[in-house]
Amino acid sequence: MTTHATTTTPLGAPRAFPELAENFTWGVATSAYQIEGATEADGRTASIWDTFCRVPGAVANGDTGDAACDHYRLMPEDVKLIAGLGVDSYRFSLAWPRIQPGGRGPVNAKGIAFYDRLVDTLLEHGITPWATLYHWDLPQELEDAGGWPERDTAHRFAEYAELTYRALGDRVVNWTTLNEPWCSAMLGYHEGVHAPGRRDFSEALHAVHHLLLGHGMAAQRMRAAAAEADNELSLGIVLNLGHGSPASDSEQDREAARRSDALGARLYLDALVHGRYPEDLLAELPSVGVTLPVQEGDLATIAQPLDLLGVNYYTSHQFTGTDEHGETTDERGLPVVRTVPFGLPRTAMDWEIVPAGLTRLLLRLDREYGVPLVVTENGAAFDDTVAADGEVRDEDRVAYLAGHLAAVAEARAQGADVRGYFAWSLFDNFEWAYGYDKRFGIVRVDYDTQRRTVKESGAWYRDTVRLTRGR
Ligand code: FCB
Repeated sequence: MTTHATTTTPLGAPRAFPELAENFTWGVATSAYQIEGATEADGRTASIWDTFCRVPGAVANGDTGDAACDHYRLMPEDVKLIAGLGVDSYRFSLAWPRIQPGGRGPVNAKGIAFYDRLVDTLLEHGITPWATLYHWDLPQELEDAGGWPERDTAHRFAEYAELTYRALGDRVVNWTTLNEPWCSAMLGYHEGVHAPGRRDFSEALHAVHHLLLGHGMAAQRMRAAAAEADNELSLGIVLNLGHGSPASDSEQDREAARRSDALGARLYLDALVHGRYPEDLLAELPSVGVTLPVQEGDLATIAQPLDLLGVNYYTSHQFTGTDEHGETTDERGLPVVRTVPFGLPRTAMDWEIVPAGLTRLLLRLDREYGVPLVVTENGAAFDDTVAADGEVRDEDRVAYLAGHLAAVAEARAQGADVRGYFAWSLFDNFEWAYGYDKRFGIVRVDYDTQRRTVKESGAWYRDTVRLTRGR
């Protein structure tokens, strides 16, 4: 056997997914800070991520978004590349500190001009823009004024949303307000592993409320602006969700799964869709010294009609209410909520690969919340290698995508209203606290040369879209 033969295992062939052939959007996704670079260009000011990247030890290798994929300059070629993938939509985010530097005041003409050009270039290539208003890059000045734990940040966000919508809403129909408020609040203000790096559970819960309030106020202002201009508008929000289950039928394990679901899913979903926070969570928060800063009318503001719910899915978990020693409370006397591995293969993020969880999640969301669903992110990091011929044969990523698309198809077959799928990510990019170590792209980026190479997974995705659509 030659070396060549052992290193080129045949790839999974592209597949047609008949359940995804009609009324289904196919896209790729990115976010501003992760790809744009040019952090000081054209009047952009610092975001909390620019600051956080400079905290020693906060980000792997001391990486920053200063250069990232240099998309700010390479945008026209990047859009051609997206068009070459045969997808019909591109999900990107808008950088608040470019559009409204410092988070207050008028629109920065040069900053919005970049997104103007991006939107026009996408439309010229027949690609539908899906704009996210906030993918974690809060202007640093607003963090200095208290950040998301402060109510005023919600007002600032609504103002930024309206300004931005007025500039682009004549051409962009599909909008989502926030990307993954759980991550902004919990990773940023409780666990301290994302910007701004604070570690306070109470502040994190205040951040949750103000993120949701900001979403609601932004939605109101965008809908009013759309009506005034007679624009078509599809408006939603994006949550990171998984399917949680108890590790056993025991009372403790079921309680652990319930608690995790309350804090990770229902806190957001119940407020957004039903206009209430989960009773079970509200009953438990005082025991950890937390009260939500809810004012009269807030929940009605949060529960604006949603045209879609964006679901970012990477993995699922099962929970137990006992620690490794069988104890049911931790050192602070709080109930244990611990994940137990399923024993499935993992990605380079150490996340278990659980496609069946996506089917269950979509069915549950459809049943309990009844909002049209779009998978706004799904994908995997693996330790890619570049072969001598320059190709990246990422069969593990192909298998991941195929398994999860099959899971979406299954949810549709069982009746869930799922309207689209966006692969995360178009490019290898700045993976937050992991820096450039983790590669999620279906297109490889060589950070020394900024050369883009479509990986086998990118070619597979392109061919799968084409086969599924029958053209
Ligand atoms: C999600 C984020 C996205 C990316 C993926 C891997 O939580 O929305 O920016 O980092 O995870």
